[in-house]
Amino acid sequence: MTGSRAKPAPTAPRANAPKTADAPRAADAGPPVEAPAPAGAPVAAERGADGRRRPGTLRAGLIGLGAMGRNHARILSSLEGVEFVGAVDPAGDPHGSLRGLLGAHGVPVLPEVADLLALGVDYAVVACPTGLHEEVGLQLAAHGVCALIEKPLAHTAQAAHRLVRAFEERGLVAGVGHVERFNPALQQLRSRLEAGELGEVFQVVTRRQGPFPHRIADVGVVKDLATHDIDLTSWITGAAYASLSARTVSKSGREHEDMVAVVGSLVDGTMVSHLVNWLSPLKERFTAVTGERGCFVADTLTADLTFHANGAVATEWEALRAFRGVAEGDTVRFAFPKREPLAVEHERFRDAVRAGQAAEGCGIVTIREGLRTVEVSAAVLESARGTSDLAVPHGAADPSGAGGPDAGTGAGGAGREAAAPAFLAPEGDPSPAGRGASAHRSAHVAEHTA
Ligand SMILES: NC(=O)c1ccc[n+]([C@@H]2O[C@H](COP(=O)([O-])OP(=O)(O)OC[C@H]3O[C@@H](n4cnc5c(N)ncnc54)[C@H](O)[C@@H]3O)[C@@H](O)[C@H]2O)c1
Repeated sequence: MTGSRAKPAPTAPRANAPKTADAPRAADAGPPVEAPAPAGAPVAAERGADGRRRPGTLRAGLIGLGAMGRNHARILSSLEGVEFVGAVDPAGDPHGSLRGLLGAHGVPVLPEVADLLALGVDYAVVACPTGLHEEVGLQLAAHGVCALIEKPLAHTAQAAHRLVRAFEERGLVAGVGHVERFNPALQQLRSRLEAGELGEVFQVVTRRQGPFPHRIADVGVVKDLATHDIDLTSWITGAAYASLSARTVSKSGREHEDMVAVVGSLVDGTMVSHLVNWLSPLKERFTAVTGERGCFVADTLTADLTFHANGAVATEWEALRAFRGVAEGDTVRFAFPKREPLAVEHERFRDAVRAGQAAEGCGIVTIREGLRTVEVSAAVLESARGTSDLAVPHGAADPSGAGGPDAGTGAGGAGREAAAPAFLAPEGDPSPAGRGASAHRSAHVAEHTA
């Protein structure tokens, strides 16, 4: 591969030859190695004895130059081993902020994906609106181009399935831009959980709140933002979602929800909750993992990770000694290197394209993982649409007060001795199924992942 190709004109006439289903890797998108490469064709892949691509310059493009695309443009223009050959946006440079950067690197802004394909690219970053990911992704796959597709992978689970099929059938590397995975605080947290520093994990709680992004109109806050929480929760724990229950509201007058509360269980019995909205002037990106030995708190805005340890010292204060729960111990804020998550995401994806590998564990968020996240987000919306709510009693049934709101154990306000309502798991059932059973209106995620 060479890195010294002159940039062809944006209107170069040749499109990448579509790949056949048995073509093994992205690298095969170009012409046969022995054939002279036409101007603008993808750089032919050199392969080692193991059949993998050797390190070399890759030709990359970008689709969408909006709020997120601008960040991708900045990273792509200085990514080692990558030549940024062109960007696509029918609105040109909509924020007018990229002219200098793109001009300095000789990167043309093109009106259509076909124009980028005509330049010849090994991979493209897809940062156009979510509703277009499927159409654009399928176009790239059909032309043998690998893709890093922004999160969420697609606007529906069906569209996400079609994308997975298109890239997998052609052996193309495809990843999803769940950039939180590359946040140093969450990377640290995951390593520490894997090392067993917390012991058994009891619960993962996330909060992701902030003001309204006027530009996002094609999906609601579940697909746009909560997919970050769904992906990171499965990733840090290594456990898939088993069941969940959700509520949404829409306060902004738009078609889609703008606030969601989710409670669920992972397959290992870990309890999860996510509060996500576009309706708060308070911006927060909070992840707390509570377990046997204490609680980790990751702030992905500041990339800080703090550990609140359970106290090991006996407290002197009698009133506190009587409480059988955990005691407050030391608090430690860890120091670790903090690289920009998006830069790390790009480096991992570049390396995966070079290696022709998109298997789980290769360091990127695979397209299959992206699909699972879209499926869980579909389950969240389905649960929120559900109608099997259990009404909460307003408790005047028992004038003695025993059945008042504080007793709270049964729909009839039957008092403290009443049997547990049907939606609570019987005591002593520690199984994940038993613990998950308390979620009424729950959507069983397995149904969506089949
Ligand atoms: N990973 C993250 O943290 C993160 C953050 C923000 C957005 N995103 C994702 O990035 C994507 C874009 O979001 P955004 O906030 O940048 O939106 P945006 O509206 O700011 O930008 C979208 C851009 O795509 C362009 N566009 C429209 N149709 C196009 C087409 N056919 N081909 C090429 N470009 C086209 C628009 O002109 C616009 O400039 C969404 O999928 C979103 O979920 C991810």
